[in-house]
Amino acid sequence: MSKELELGNDDYDFPHKHLLGLTDYSGSDIQFILDQAQNFREILDRPVPKVPTLRDKTIVNLFYENSTRTRLSFELAQKRMGADVVNFSASSSSVKKGESLKDTIRNISSMKIDMVVVRHESPGVPHFLTRCVDAAIINAGDGAHEHPTQALLDLFSMQQIYPDLSGKHVAIIGDIAHSRVVRSNIIGLLKLGADVTVCGPKTMMPAYVEELGANVSYNIDETLAWCDIAMALRIQLERQDEGTELFPSIREYHQLFGITMKHLEKYPDFTIMHPGPVNRGVELESRVADSDRSIILSQVTNGVAVRMAVLYLLSGGTRV
Ligand code: CP
Repeated sequence: MSKELELGNDDYDFPHKHLLGLTDYSGSDIQFILDQAQNFREILDRPVPKVPTLRDKTIVNLFYENSTRTRLSFELAQKRMGADVVNFSASSSSVKKGESLKDTIRNISSMKIDMVVVRHESPGVPHFLTRCVDAAIINAGDGAHEHPTQALLDLFSMQQIYPDLSGKHVAIIGDIAHSRVVRSNIIGLLKLGADVTVCGPKTMMPAYVEELGANVSYNIDETLAWCDIAMALRIQLERQDEGTELFPSIREYHQLFGITMKHLEKYPDFTIMHPGPVNRGVELESRVADSDRSIILSQVTNGVAVRMAVLYLLSGGTRV
């Protein structure tokens, strides 16, 4: 672990009101969240996995896009901490009657809320909400921009295997162009000292990944031979325009970029991760997802602890 990270932790002044992305967070901020998450992870293993640290807080989960893991994980984290929780789903709200995002959030805010967890298909919505209400805003995924709590839980899961990520080789393989997970992971991993390679079809490789400092590869064998951890990403067909497909067929994609049992045999050391949801038989052969090299379900378990840490720190908590 770098000296910067070791130093800040004994008397750390967490400087953030919002979590909009990892760009504004230093390596020390990130490591501090991960250290607090470890404390919450231990609390979750107790017979009564609850702490009343948010019992005076009211939190709204504002989801304009589908979610299974992130939404349930936030809700569970909030309930484990005793918060009052309100769930908003765009599909069953007055959004369907034409109410704007700004009016929606200002009306919700009038009910005296402390925090908003927001997922939206448009990049920048969490930033916009900081200008509309006083509550702390947490980005639960904004378009193809950022998904910071996913990256934090990924980093936490990697540190369970490699407590010091500096110099570790992390590959992110799949639909890079449409992923918000990849940007947050590249930013977080580089701040903790890891080396990152992204791998996928050329048609799905945005220029910004190299600008952020990641390496680019179009060869899955070279990438898997190099990496300690391989994170597969889902092909996001719902974000591709019909008639402008970015690869010839799912079958060909799987042949060129899918991780298979043959890869596990050929390269015996790397660990498999995936943020979910998994398209079995596309980015991962089904048996790979269920193999003992996969930590996909541990990532989900860790997500609750990481989100507890984020909620706690943004609500003004200092140390568990
Ligand atoms: N990883 C993730 O964001 O999953 P959900 O879309 O189910 O929340």
